[in-house]
Amino acid sequence: MKKTIRDIDWAGKRAVMRADFNVPLDGDVITDDIRIKAALPSIEYLLDHGASIVLMSHLGRPKGEAKPEFSLAPVAKRLSELLGKEVKFVPSDVVVDDNVRKAAADLKAGEAMLIENVRYRAEETKNDPGFAKDLASLGDIFVQDAFGTAHRAHSSTTGIADYIPAVSGFLIEKELKFLGEAVNNPKRPFAAVMGGAKVKDKIPVITNLLDKVDILIVGGGMAYTFFKSQGYSIGTSLLDEEGLDLAADILKLAAEKGVKFMLPVDVVCADEFANDSPHDTYDIDEIPDNRMGLDIGEETIKLFTDALKASKTVVWNGPMGVFEMDNFAVGTKAIAECLAEIDATTVIGGGDSAAAVAKFGLADKMTHISTGGGASLEFLEGIELPGIAIIEDK
Ligand code: 3PG
Repeated sequence: MKKTIRDIDWAGKRAVMRADFNVPLDGDVITDDIRIKAALPSIEYLLDHGASIVLMSHLGRPKGEAKPEFSLAPVAKRLSELLGKEVKFVPSDVVVDDNVRKAAADLKAGEAMLIENVRYRAEETKNDPGFAKDLASLGDIFVQDAFGTAHRAHSSTTGIADYIPAVSGFLIEKELKFLGEAVNNPKRPFAAVMGGAKVKDKIPVITNLLDKVDILIVGGGMAYTFFKSQGYSIGTSLLDEEGLDLAADILKLAAEKGVKFMLPVDVVCADEFANDSPHDTYDIDEIPDNRMGLDIGEETIKLFTDALKASKTVVWNGPMGVFEMDNFAVGTKAIAECLAEIDATTVIGGGDSAAAVAKFGLADKMTHISTGGGASLEFLEGIELPGIAIIEDK
């Protein structure tokens, strides 16, 4: 068990808390604040228990330069609104300087401040010990609550723990509970639904899940690489050449392990990759040479949702089609609606599937939606994330 913020007497202490405030921005308007909201329980607990907090995060990939479009200023504003009290933003092009150190030292119990995007410094992503020490100098205890960035070994996610004690916040605790229990202690039948484009990217996850699931459903762009590996013609659909042999190996492995492996039986194919492109549904052995598959068909939706209705735990990672285009969002929406209705533990593995569930207004109908894209994927691969490994054990 990892130590959490509950295991510390916070009176008079200053927390340096790493959150994942890597939120989508349109100019300086935050278009989705789920990650900011997800950090609130830890922040509120710390402030209510006599701590002061120096908050830090990255935003985007400014590659070691102080680029204003990657500033965390809009996050400080939104955070203050959500918290109902001011979170002082203390910007610096070098992230930590004397002014920032003084602002941290001046914080009183119950006060919080936010420093500038840690990726303004090139040292951050190199896990540079000097920068980690600078960040650690801002407080007494490191609170790791950035689940979405826990797969990165950077100065603000792992290196800092070499200098001050590290405990987890409530978001990390919650993510580990839901993702961990779903994968390692599932109520059965346990189904995983995998989608997305590249087989190669998902191989480690699928391989790990094959040891745990009863049913593995594969849809989305990567299904076409599986079809091709079975000798079907896939027209102009997406093909992950490098993944062809891997797809064949996975099918063999699934059969050996007795996992029910489900692929689409019909797909919606269009002339072009565009929402208004003419499209029709075909059985998978009838995909025309000049058309590309962009969604699963009605037969497949029935097959997949019937299997899910009989499941007690479902983990979903990756859309079933190009859900950003309304004409090809039908399959992804049907899976989301099915998961919203069934009496099962439903865990959404972040990234695109989380965005899809939010788009269809079904977020509050799922047991858990991970705030991690890459991080949840690596977690599902069975890897211990470096940003979690550094948290002290109880
Ligand atoms: C994410 O959005 O997946 C995390 O914030 C990590 O961002 P990164 O891929 O730029 O490290």
